[in-house]
Amino acid sequence: MKVSQRVKEVPYSAIRKLTPYADAAKKSGKKIYHLNIGEPDTRTPKEFFEAVQDFNQDRVGYAPSKGLLELREATSKYYKDRAIAYDAEDEIIITAGASEALVFALIAVTDLGDNVLTCNPFYSNYYTIFRQIGIKPQTFDTKVEDGYKLPDYETILNSVNEDTKAVLLSNPSNPTGAVYTEEEIRRVARVAIEKDLFIIADEVYREFVYDNKEFMSFAEIEGIEDRLILLDSISKRFGACGARIGSIASKNKDLMTEIVKLATGRLAAPTLEQIGATKLYDVQDSYFKEINEEYQRRRDCVYEELQKIDGVKTYAPKGAFYVMPELPVEDAEDFAKWMLTDFDLDGETVMVAPGFGFYHDSNVGKSQIRLAFVLNCEDLKKAINLLKIGLDEYKKINS
Ligand SMILES: Cc1ncc(COP(=O)(O)O)c(C=O)c1O
Repeated sequence: MKVSQRVKEVPYSAIRKLTPYADAAKKSGKKIYHLNIGEPDTRTPKEFFEAVQDFNQDRVGYAPSKGLLELREATSKYYKDRAIAYDAEDEIIITAGASEALVFALIAVTDLGDNVLTCNPFYSNYYTIFRQIGIKPQTFDTKVEDGYKLPDYETILNSVNEDTKAVLLSNPSNPTGAVYTEEEIRRVARVAIEKDLFIIADEVYREFVYDNKEFMSFAEIEGIEDRLILLDSISKRFGACGARIGSIASKNKDLMTEIVKLATGRLAAPTLEQIGATKLYDVQDSYFKEINEEYQRRRDCVYEELQKIDGVKTYAPKGAFYVMPELPVEDAEDFAKWMLTDFDLDGETVMVAPGFGFYHDSNVGKSQIRLAFVLNCEDLKKAINLLKIGLDEYKKINS
């Protein structure tokens, strides 16, 4: 018996790759500040738990494959309040997180051997899903020097080849925190029209946009309705990662008919979590405002502290809760591992995600790391200071 080549080609998650070293460090008594995983530490609104506690049936049955109508309606209203029209009846399907929504979208628009255009660096789990379903990424580069803005029209256009079926972007971006301007989004839309591609817009971080900037969704652009597939999730929006509830929305009726088949094949998304998620949409906008302000404070902290480290190339991320700086080291993965195995200050150290795993066919990420600012400001300051001291020591040892 042999495991498949397909599964062998799935890489270890860039975010969790160093976990065995972190486990060993914890066992030896070290305290680790986790900046490697983007799981918000903010509370899930009580509406979720109340709704689940109020469940009074004697059986947890399957929900409809398309999702509970109440949740589809709540999602549709959420969009409507943001000037986006998706009908609850046949334009929204509830999924097990945005992750499942992405699997459905990719299966629905690609065949084996096709590719999907995205930017370097990209959310590393995209790669796992690409390999799972037998497709490849096709990439264009974005750069730390300009805060990972999208490149010009020609660069994006010329990255498309005959096997490209869709362009996929996370906006606001995981891993870079870039938030694309209206002009950048229109540029991508123009390429998609020119090359007849689907647009898969992963907008799970839409609430996390800073400096009073307005977020512009692909769904606000006219003329691409038929080619747009919008992925969404309650994971980050309501700090409810463990509920595993997301959605896929599209105005393309043929496409949605096919996706219903995929949804039916996996029966349903979790029932109780859908009931809880429906009530989450009752929370006041003040909830989003409070969370947004907290993350902006964290963004400011991280940016300020990173600027104090010699030789680090950084920028102020405009959204999400990630920043992807470049360190003055040749191999950031080795450094990140060393921080866990060989370094501590008074028994404390930091875990970060090496940048390499967020790139395809590129070595640029070798000197980069991704930091998730999901800790309070005080802890973030301590963590970045540990990074600074660790970096000094590491450079001395390796010079
Ligand atoms: C850009 C992006 N898309 C999708 C997901 C997956 O979200 P979900 O928890 O809804 O599956 C994540 C999770 O970190 C993410 O960062």
